[in-house]
Amino acid sequence: MPFYSIDQLKPGMVLATDVTDMSGRLLLSKGQAIDPKHLNIFKMWGVPEVQVQDDQENGPEDSPTVDPEVMRHTAESLKSVFSGNDLNHPAVAEIFRQAVFHRSRSGVSPTVERSTVAASESTPSSNSLEMRQKIRNRDIKLPEVPTIIFKLNDTIADPFSSSDDIAQVISKSPGLAAQLLRIVNSAFYGFPSRIDSISRAVTVIGSKEISALAAGIATMEIFKDIPKNVFDTQAFTHHSLTCGVLARILAAGGNIRNTEQLFVSGLLHDIGRMVMFRYFPRQVGTMLAAATDGETCLYDVEKRVMGFRHTDIAADLFEKWKFPVALSQNVVFHHRPTSAQDPARAAVIHLADIIAHALGEGKSGEWCIPTLDTAAWDKLRISPQTLATIIPQAIHHLNFLTSIFTGES
Ligand SMILES: [Fe+2]
Ligand SMILES: [Fe+2]
Repeated sequence: MPFYSIDQLKPGMVLATDVTDMSGRLLLSKGQAIDPKHLNIFKMWGVPEVQVQDDQENGPEDSPTVDPEVMRHTAESLKSVFSGNDLNHPAVAEIFRQAVFHRSRSGVSPTVERSTVAASESTPSSNSLEMRQKIRNRDIKLPEVPTIIFKLNDTIADPFSSSDDIAQVISKSPGLAAQLLRIVNSAFYGFPSRIDSISRAVTVIGSKEISALAAGIATMEIFKDIPKNVFDTQAFTHHSLTCGVLARILAAGGNIRNTEQLFVSGLLHDIGRMVMFRYFPRQVGTMLAAATDGETCLYDVEKRVMGFRHTDIAADLFEKWKFPVALSQNVVFHHRPTSAQDPARAAVIHLADIIAHALGEGKSGEWCIPTLDTAAWDKLRISPQTLATIIPQAIHHLNFLTSIFTGES
């Protein structure tokens, strides 16, 4: 019996086997005909593919064809940005294959765009440790925690908080509430019936999950006003969202619980860089210029110029804003996941970030593809074949979700 990825299924096809979610709960029984509502349920629970009876169709549709010459050119160009990775590793090979196909088909530049921000007058800082010390001493202030995020994180930490408490906090910000409802009503969540209130969202999705999602959205909102000449915030939001979407689907595919927290972790994974762009534009100019030399990744340039990395800033910010430790760990260790308290969860963000860069969806200022930590990959029970299903699934949801975040629709 053939396997069909979710995007290849058509209403009327009949299931050849039972379909279960990641915890083994039965979603749909063998012999049942698939209808459009079921497709949303599969997506929501992260079911990457199902087996259908082989007398239904002539097999999955062929993927759209792409000019082999374009593919060859894209592959050649991409090799240089994958230079820190072993293309013979099965996961890297699959990511590379998907990236070549996606970039060739969608017209994403085959070469990775490097920043055009000019170097500032400043020289690499010799007193960067002093600067971090200043941040810690609050001489250079990290932004104060906005009331809504403070209240949301307070609610997450309080075991006695009720769904009404959470709904009340979120409803005080009509813009946030509306954005949240659009997200939970999107195909990415795939609920069969419309969720029309925050209280209902809390009931259906869970209080801590909705609070974390609201805190993540509100945090991204705060850093939106970075001047365009410093960095393209919209492209940054798209990179962040790509990582979040991939993280949620990867987690479901790898049987990892609490997929919502991983979505928010992905969304906020580079928040430290947003803080850098917003508060240290002079040093950022130096960094971005230094990172275009074609040899050094921005992650390492940060250390050289600033004396610390965006993940260090995230650690300070999350501590100050009292984000849950588990979420902070996923973010702080996304470049070295095996050092996290829960390496598998940090590995999800690590992998999602690599894929987001490989696909060329959005920008974070980084021009190279981060090197896959193969020990972290081994902690994930995801096969390279599953990546082939997960990546197109994530791409499918991206544009609509980005339009919600950037307020373009
Ligand atoms: Fe990062
Ligand atoms: Fe990133």
